[in-house]
Amino acid sequence: MEAIILVGGFGTRLRPLTYTIPKPLLPLANIPMVERMVRNLPTIFDTAILAVNYGLEEMKNYFENRNVGKKIIIVPEEEPLGTGGAMRNCINHVTGTVAVFNGDVVNSINLEEMLEQHINKKAKGTLALWEIDDPSRFGVVELKNNKILQFQEKPEKGTELSNLINAGTYLLEREILEMIPPNQKISIERDIYPKIAGNGLYGFPFKGHFIDSGTPKSYLEANFKCLGNDGTASHPGASIRGSCLIHKSVRLIDCIIGPNAVIGPDVKLEKCVIRNSVILSGVEGYGCVVEDSIIGPEISLKEDKKQILISPEGEITF
Ligand code: GTP
Repeated sequence: MEAIILVGGFGTRLRPLTYTIPKPLLPLANIPMVERMVRNLPTIFDTAILAVNYGLEEMKNYFENRNVGKKIIIVPEEEPLGTGGAMRNCINHVTGTVAVFNGDVVNSINLEEMLEQHINKKAKGTLALWEIDDPSRFGVVELKNNKILQFQEKPEKGTELSNLINAGTYLLEREILEMIPPNQKISIERDIYPKIAGNGLYGFPFKGHFIDSGTPKSYLEANFKCLGNDGTASHPGASIRGSCLIHKSVRLIDCIIGPNAVIGPDVKLEKCVIRNSVILSGVEGYGCVVEDSIIGPEISLKEDKKQILISPEGEITF
C-alpha cells in the first residue's frame, strides 16, 4: 500500500528557517519530520510517495542512498499544485486505496483502525478529525454516524458546523484522485471535499494529540512531544533538567540543559542555559541563556553582559 506525503509547501510561517532547510527536512527531536513520518508508517505500507515542489534538490539529496525502511518515490512538481493537484500528480504510483498526509503533522492517529473503518464503511474517502474549541481557522465538518455531511474551509467565527476539524490525514480511493483535474493548482480542502461531502466521505475522530508543526510555537511543541515524557539525555558537561535530547556529537561545558531541550549535531556550548528550545546543528555558544527559541543552524551565540532577547522566531537581540 502507498502513502502520499505532501511535502512541497514553502513553509512561509517558519521563515527564515525554511529559506535554508525545507520544512519537511527540519528535525523533530533530531530526525527530519518527513523521515519520522515515513518511519512511523505501519508495516502495511511499503511505499512512501513524496510530493515535492519547494526543496526538491534537498529532498533528493537527503533520501539518496538512505534506508528509511520503505521504498521512497519522489514526485516533483514544476509549479506548486496545491494539496489536491499534488496528490493527483502522484496517481501513476498509486495502486489502490492510498493514505495521504500533510507532511508537517504530528499526531496519535491509529492508522490501522482508520483503515478498518474506511473498508467497513466502503468509503470513497475518510478524513481523520480532531476536536478543538475554536475551529474557525480550519476545515470544519458536519458529522453524523461517521458520515461527513458538509465540509467548510475556514468558516467565519460563529458559523462553524461543529468543533471537528480536518487533521490532514486521509484515506482515499483512487476514484477521488481521478476526480481532480490534472496539472492544475487544486486545493483538496476547498475544491474537492465540499463536492463529495454527503456522498461517500467519512470522518474518523481520534483522541490523543495533534500538532501542526508549521509555526515557530507549534514547531517547538512538536519537538517536545516527540521527546516523550522521559528524560532521555545525559552528558558529563551538563546538568540535565527534565526531558531533553542531546545528539552524541554535542560538546558541552558547564551547561544547564532542560526542561524540554533538543540539541542537534555538532553543537558546542559553554556556560549556557537552554530551556524549552531547539538548538539546530552546528550552533556555538558561550555564556547565553536561551528560552522558548529555535536557534540555528550554524549560528554563533556570544557572551554578552546585557540581557539577550531571543524571540520565538529565532531572532536574537543583543
Ligand atoms: P506555510 O507557507 O507556512 O503555510 O506552510 P506550507 O507551505 O507547508 O503550507 P501548509 O502548512 O498549508 O501545507 C500543508 C501541507 O501540504 C504541508 O505538508 C505542505 O508541504 C503541503 N503542501 C502545501 N502546498 C503544496 C503544494 O503546492 N505542493 C505540494 N507537493 N505540497 C504542498
